[in-house]
Amino acid sequence: MTEPRPISIVPSVLPADFSRLGEECVALAEAGVDRIQWDVMDGRFVPNLTFGPDVIASCRKHVDIPFEAHLMVLDPDELAGRYVDAGCEILIVHAETAPHLHRTLARVRELGASPAVALNPATPVAAVQHVLDLVDMVLVMTVNPGFGGQDYIATMEPKVAEVRALADAQGLTLDVEVDGGIGPSTIAGAVTAGANVLIAGSALYRDPEGLGHAVSDLRARAEAARAS
Ligand code: DX5
Repeated sequence: MTEPRPISIVPSVLPADFSRLGEECVALAEAGVDRIQWDVMDGRFVPNLTFGPDVIASCRKHVDIPFEAHLMVLDPDELAGRYVDAGCEILIVHAETAPHLHRTLARVRELGASPAVALNPATPVAAVQHVLDLVDMVLVMTVNPGFGGQDYIATMEPKVAEVRALADAQGLTLDVEVDGGIGPSTIAGAVTAGANVLIAGSALYRDPEGLGHAVSDLRARAEAARAS
């Protein structure tokens, strides 16, 4: 078993005020998040349309914390370079969108970004077992991608554990990220299953005590689950 990877609390800006994204990024950084996730959606792989590279580039100068682009797009090969140029240090490619996934992930690293691979709920871990050596992180989706505010799919927890076990078996030190429905009542299950990077959108923005409290509370719950 490799050394446990540190807990990271990473917001999705999907619920943020899109008319003030620069200020929203500053508020997230001040709230203590570890980095920011941009849910990039092309309206084809998922039924929603969100952030182009220019939008992210316009926010880059406002904060120093890393940006990750969750590429929910049908053509990651075409778009990867533009999101790296926009200032994203991590690119998450969906296994379902790249017929030549091994080459696509290798190219992300060649572009100077950290490659990660995502699995939709129905996609088996076997789909990524031959590319784990190319990535720094695996994202196990705990909702069907496209929208925030959905219910957590708890049946993904054994899949999180399977990814963690496969990485350990290959002697790889990987982050395992979960995304969708993560909040005070679900984060412990995800961490206990083996996730260490927790994406949260709605849970952060609906906290009546504000972003800072929400981030601290989720981090405390994740660390407590890790320690139990
Ligand atoms: C789905 C999105 C959401 C978002 C987080 O495509 O990726 O999972 O990031 O949404 P919440 O935290 O509101 O479930």
